[in-house]
Amino acid sequence: MELAELVDLLGLPYYQHSQCLIYQGDCLDYMRRMPSEIIDLTVTSPPYNIGKAYEAPRPLDEYLVWCEDWIGEVHRLSTASGSFWLNLGYLAISDRAKAIPIPYLLWQRIPFFLIQEIVWQYGAGVAGRKFFSPRNEKFLWYVKNPEQYTFNLDDVRDPDVKYPNQKKNGKVKVNPIGKNPGDVWQFKKVTSGQNRASKERTPHPAQFPEEVIERIILASSNEGDLIFDPFIGSGTTAAVALRLQRRVIGFEIQSDYCAITAARLENVIRQAAAPHQQVLFAEG
Ligand SMILES: C[S@@+](CC[C@H](N)C(=O)[O-])C[C@H]1O[C@@H](n2cnc3c(N)ncnc32)[C@H](O)[C@@H]1O
Repeated sequence: MELAELVDLLGLPYYQHSQCLIYQGDCLDYMRRMPSEIIDLTVTSPPYNIGKAYEAPRPLDEYLVWCEDWIGEVHRLSTASGSFWLNLGYLAISDRAKAIPIPYLLWQRIPFFLIQEIVWQYGAGVAGRKFFSPRNEKFLWYVKNPEQYTFNLDDVRDPDVKYPNQKKNGKVKVNPIGKNPGDVWQFKKVTSGQNRASKERTPHPAQFPEEVIERIILASSNEGDLIFDPFIGSGTTAAVALRLQRRVIGFEIQSDYCAITAARLENVIRQAAAPHQQVLFAEG
């Protein structure tokens, strides 16, 4: 579907580029106005109902119904060969769990087929005194149809091979492009603070690292595909998708985050035109 047709349906976006649309508002409202089977890949991280600056916590049942509603819409919007990558954290349930993985609570409510759980492992994290310090998050990779989905393994192979010349029956055993990166990915978190802030950091409090999203987009989509993030936040999914020559649509409820996304996308477009310039974000 052409992005111009989406503009006819959804109205004028907050930010627009020939390959990209960002709307400010509630994602569920927007999704309900979109036609079925148009999205090739959705990559997202919703609010976890844990009282972050950008969410008003609601009763658990209500939160789970809301997740079921928006994920149901992502399923309807996905093409027959579409993928859905979901980053979801943990929440506390009094008397039951200090930190239960939210996907456990949603298992019966998600209509997609689960291919795999990816562990994103990082160094920095919360310090623990009576528990092990959490050092990972999960990405769940779902598809609409397990018989037909995009997986570009060669585009994401890891060149860091321990024994590149290992042979079997006289033939080099190892793929010359690199190895399958496996299901535990080590990428640094986006950090803040003086002297340790990541280069890509924006003032958004829950920003995805671009490296993680790059691997997902390269593996699960092709150039020209339509990528979607219903909770775009600081715009990481959109920035990476645009840089990798995909088209993208995103929703974000807060205008200040839409402004961060728009500035970031302008930076990507500027960089594509003049690859040696880069605008960095100040701590906000
Ligand atoms: C976990 S953050 C996403 C961060 C993003 N992955 C990034 O790299 O910056 C979730 C975002 O969803 C937004 N949000 C919350 N409720 C929303 C809704 N109903 N519709 C659209 N966006 C919403 C929040 O403002 C927040 O920016």
